[in-house]
Order: sequence, then structure tokens, then C-alpha cells
Amino acid sequence: LQNKLWGGRFVGNTDPIMESFNASIAYDQRMWDADIRGSKAYVRALQKANLVTQHEMNQIHVGLDKIHGEWSSGKFQIKPGDEDIHTANERRLKELIGEAAGKLHTGRSRNDQVVTDMRLWLQDAIATLKGNTIDLINTMVERAAIEIDILFPGYTHMQRAQPIRWSHWILRYALKNFREKNELDFNEISINSMDATGQRDFVAEFLFWGSMCLMHLSKMAEDLILYSTKEFSFVSLSDAYSTGSSLMPQKKNADSLELIRSKAGRVFGRCAGFLMTLKGLPSTYNKDLQEDKEAMFDTYDTLHAVLQVATGVMSTLKVNQKNMKAALSPDMLATDLAYYLVRKGMPFREAHSCSGKAVYHAESKGIPLSQLTVEDLHTFSPLFDSDVSSVWDYTSSVEQYSAQGGTARSSVASQIEHMRAWLKEH
Ligand code: ARG
Repeated sequence: LQNKLWGGRFVGNTDPIMESFNASIAYDQRMWDADIRGSKAYVRALQKANLVTQHEMNQIHVGLDKIHGEWSSGKFQIKPGDEDIHTANERRLKELIGEAAGKLHTGRSRNDQVVTDMRLWLQDAIATLKGNTIDLINTMVERAAIEIDILFPGYTHMQRAQPIRWSHWILRYALKNFREKNELDFNEISINSMDATGQRDFVAEFLFWGSMCLMHLSKMAEDLILYSTKEFSFVSLSDAYSTGSSLMPQKKNADSLELIRSKAGRVFGRCAGFLMTLKGLPSTYNKDLQEDKEAMFDTYDTLHAVLQVATGVMSTLKVNQKNMKAALSPDMLATDLAYYLVRKGMPFREAHSCSGKAVYHAESKGIPLSQLTVEDLHTFSPLFDSDVSSVWDYTSSVEQYSAQGGTARSSVASQIEHMRAWLKEH
């Protein structure tokens, strides 16, 4: 057991199945760079504390730089017994510089190393994901600016509700990504050593952030899948982000969006699974924590791909303005009809009921709500007058909602400006 970092007190061999069960090198080798950076900083601290000489520190730095070169050129050779990335790098350091390598581990444990490596790796990963998120937000904001005047149906309970701006829909998701992106900053320093090695809050928070981000992207994907069906035909996906059927020649499936939707489940599972790993652990390091890596890497890889695909989908999507407009129907102005009565002094509750009766009446006559005559409407309220015709205008309907967050042009434009200003800072 000479090749094991911890071999001294052992006389028996590790069972081969245990050996591979225990090893994390297959996936933690991704942290080779973080591991080397961590060691270089650590040996500097050792030198300051006079635990290694200046010469030994230089030797170790030169050795670590060589190892860095081997990893980056793909020449690093993983050997049997390289349990994890920390072991592998230290083994190689000893081969390269001899005895001095043994001093690097003075006063530290792999438990310290692994958490340091994870944090360093995650910092870079987060920087990349921030970039991906910004690309997506930027695409969406500029799309909203160009398509600001396209109206289409807003839905609640998946039933036609009120007309809204398409750009308002886009910004709803852009804003979500924006909020999630801001929550990515968590680099507080641990001030307690038992906590530092034994907690993985930063991993759990990353997994939760990933889950929230994908939850929103999954909802956005679901909307777009619906909007891209022949029945809706509001949008059509670029060929670049669709696939076909091997049987039915006419098919163009929104696979990109379906995969985005499905990846949410995968990442939620990573988050929930890892929290369950954590929940019963006694203080400080336990090998259970080795499970942190696959959860973190997989979440990163998934988000990295999803954000890029979502950006591609959103930048190439075709919007069918005509169909969006055609999908608006006068019943979606029933709330406006109630507001008409409110403006004439009727309490909203009563106005709601009058408008509801008019909806029922039009429905039973089989005509659009806007086709009811003033005489018809009079049976529901004497307040109806010929000026009621002004209600049947989708644009003036959306223009009513000019408060912050509303769907009026000015309000959507200020959401766009807000996001553009923010994008400029980042
Ligand atoms: N490969 C381990 C992990 O990923 C590193 C720490 C191992 N520490 C130990 N005492 N066995 O968590």
C-alpha cells in the first residue's frame, strides 16, 4: 500500500470493487487547474510560516507548473491508485521533484483541498454561466424592442384572458433570467474550519439557483411549444433548433424546447438528491460529500448547454404576427366592457356581472361580443351608450396598463430601457 497517501497504517489490500467505488478521479479530474492553483497558494503560506524553504517552494511551484502543462496538453497520465485529483497531482509532483513534494501536504488534508478546489472551479463556472445568461437576456431584450407592437392573447388557466404585448411576454422571461443571474454571487469566506470543510452550502445554493433558472426556462419552453403548434401557430422554430420524424414526413418537432423542459427535472433531481445526501451528516468531512461533484458538474454542463440553446432558439424564432392578431377575440375585452361601466360610475362588482351577462348573451346568440347592439346591451345596463364602440380596440385596451410592469407601450419600453442599462453595466 506504498502508493496510497494514507497507506501507512494498512497491511491489507483494498478490494478492487471498493477501489473503484471509492475513487472520484473519473470526474474530479475536471478540477485539475483549481487543484494546482490551490496548491500553489498553499505552499506560499507554508513558506511564510517557515515550514518549507524558499528553495523548496520554488521547486514545488516549478513542478506544479509542469503538471499544469501536462494537463493542458492532454499528456497527464492517470495511474492506478490515483484515487482523486488531489492524489494524482501529488503523486506526479513527487515523480517530478522528488522528496520536496512530500512537504506540500504539511498541515492540510484533502478535505481542505477538495472544498477549495470546488469553490475555485465553481467561480469560473459561474463566470461562464453569467456570460451565457447575459447573451440570452440580451437576445430577448432586443427582440422585445423590435417586436414591441405585436399584440397577442394573454392567458390565465390556459384560457383567453386579455390582450397583451408579445414583447411583454418576452420580457417576463428575460427578467427572470436577470434576477437569477444576480443571485449567482455567493463568495463569502468561511470563518470556522469545521464548517469550511464540512459544509457544501455553496454547492447546494448553486444547485438551487440552477433549479430556479431551469424552472423558468422550462416554463418559457412550454409556452413556446404550445405557441408553435399548428393550432396556435404564433411562432415557428428555426430548422436549426427542430428535428423531424423518421416516419411522418410533415413533422417538425420542437425538440430543443422539449429538452430544455426536461432538463429542469434533471437539475431539480440533482438539487433534491444532494440535499438528501447532506441532511443526516455529522459535523465536518464525511465521504458522502464526494457526491457534491457530479451534482455540481452535471448542473453546470446542463445549464451551459440549455442557456446557449435557449439563446439560439430565441434569436432565430419566427413570429407570426398575423396569427397572433387573429387569435384575439372580442370576448377578451369583456373586462374592458366592465371598465366602461365603471367609468360611468358603476361599482366594479356590478359592472363585472353586467359584462358577464353580455358575454353569455352573445355566446348564446352565437355572435362576437362586439356585435351586440346598444339595445341588446341596454337590457343589462342603461349606462351603455353608442360610445361603447370605443371598447372594441385591442390597442387601446393594452394601452390602459401604463403603470410600472404593465403591457402599455410606454411601460414595456421602460422595462426594455431598464434591462438595457443593466446589460451595459455587465
Ligand atoms: N475525493 C474526495 C472528495 O471528493 C476528497 C477528500 C477525501 N478525503 C478523505 N479523507 N478521504 O470528497
